[in-house]
Amino acid sequence: MTTSRSLLFVSVLAAATALMACAPADGESSSAGLPKGRVDAGALQSSVKGEATGQSCVDCHGADGNQPLDPTYPKIGGQYEDYLGHALQQYRSGQRDHLLMSNQAQGLTDQQIADLAAFFASQPSQLSDLSGVY
Ligand code: HEC
Repeated sequence: MTTSRSLLFVSVLAAATALMACAPADGESSSAGLPKGRVDAGALQSSVKGEATGQSCVDCHGADGNQPLDPTYPKIGGQYEDYLGHALQQYRSGQRDHLLMSNQAQGLTDQQIADLAAFFASQPSQLSDLSGVY
C-alpha cells in the first residue's frame, strides 16, 4: 500500500469509528433519550384508561392508531417511533399543549412513553406526504 492509500484507509477507519461512537448505546432510543420501547408492553399500555378522561389511547386513536374516534384526531399508527416519543414527552412537559391530549401524557413514565411509541410505530402506516398532490 502506498503512503497516500494507507493514509486514506486510516482516515476512513477513523471516520467509521467516530460514526459508531455517535450511534445510540444499545437499549436507548436514538434521539428522544428514552429507554428501549417494548411493543408488547406498549400494546397493553395503549388500552389503560387515563385518570383524567377515563379514555385510553386506543379509545381515541383506534386499536392500531389508525381509526381515530374523530376525523380531526391524528393517525399515529406506523409513525416514526422517535416522533411519537418526542410528541408524548412534549405533551407531558407542556411544551406541546392540547386540551384532550396533554393530560393523557401527564402521568406517563419514560418507559411507558417508549413502550407506547414502539407499539404504535410497529402498526401499519396510513401516513402519506403531499408528493403528487399538486
Ligand atoms: C380523548 C382523546 C385522546 C386520547 C385518550 C389520547 N389521545 Fe392522543 N391525541 C388526541 C388528539 C385530539 C390529538 C391532536 C392534538 C394536537 O393537535 O396537538 C392527539 C395527538 C397525539 C399525538 C401526536 C400526533 C402527531 O401527529 O403529532 C400522539 C403521539 C398521541 N396523541 C398519542 C397518544 C397516546 C400514546 C395516548 C394514550 C396514552 C393518547 N394519544 C390518548 C386525542 C387523544
